[in-house]
Amino acid sequence: MDHSNNLTLIGAEDVITDVIRERRSIYPDEFLAKDIPQNIVEEILVNATWAPTHKMTEPWRFIVLQGTHQYQFGLYMANYYKNYYLEKLSHSKFAAKFKYLQEYPLKAACMIAIILVRHPKIALPEWEEIAAVSCAVQNMALSCTAYGLGGYWCSTDAAIEYVKELGLAENERSLGLFIMGHFDPLAITPRKKRSPLTKKVTWLK
Ligand SMILES: Cc1cc2nc3c(=O)[nH]c(=O)nc-3n(C[C@H](O)[C@H](O)[C@H](O)COP(=O)(O)O)c2cc1C
Repeated sequence: MDHSNNLTLIGAEDVITDVIRERRSIYPDEFLAKDIPQNIVEEILVNATWAPTHKMTEPWRFIVLQGTHQYQFGLYMANYYKNYYLEKLSHSKFAAKFKYLQEYPLKAACMIAIILVRHPKIALPEWEEIAAVSCAVQNMALSCTAYGLGGYWCSTDAAIEYVKELGLAENERSLGLFIMGHFDPLAITPRKKRSPLTKKVTWLK
């Protein structure tokens, strides 16, 4: 065992640490209703596809939803939770909530439907394929951070069901939406804390 400290650095260690630790979930309330050029969205999606996958199954498919589809998702979400909030809220509070949900996605630049695609021949455990898609989504999130954009993974029941209605094949499963947009870094809430390493890591030597 070589115990020397000679690492072969590629010169990106500070950059990746900054990007990883700067990333945070940015929500549609915080978006600035501004487009992201298509070539940047494509770069972000290409980065997603560079995620590792067991047996190279690449078990994903993405649908980029913009414009009227953002409006449709807002309306879908408002109707999805309608009965729940009708029971819970007064009439005026319900009306405000309905409007809020309806308008929720409108300031995003786009929404990426995240679809797990099971390989027709390679039968890996589903958890491995979901793990691979999650790596792809994290690549998307980190790429957004690197471009100064925000985003978050929306896995609410409404988002899962909305993506299902886009027309999924038998071997596909909806994993919700990655919603992205521009934001003002000075206007957002502070970063969430993380537990110290000592609570999460055991070293066995
Ligand atoms: C698989 C997954 C699903 C998530 N779904 C939601 C969601 O439906 N709604 C939401 O507000 N945040 C969702 N999030 C974002 C988390 O709330 C967020 O990552 C967490 O609070 C930590 O904050 P940070 O991302 O800013 O570090 C999801 C995150 C992951 C990884």
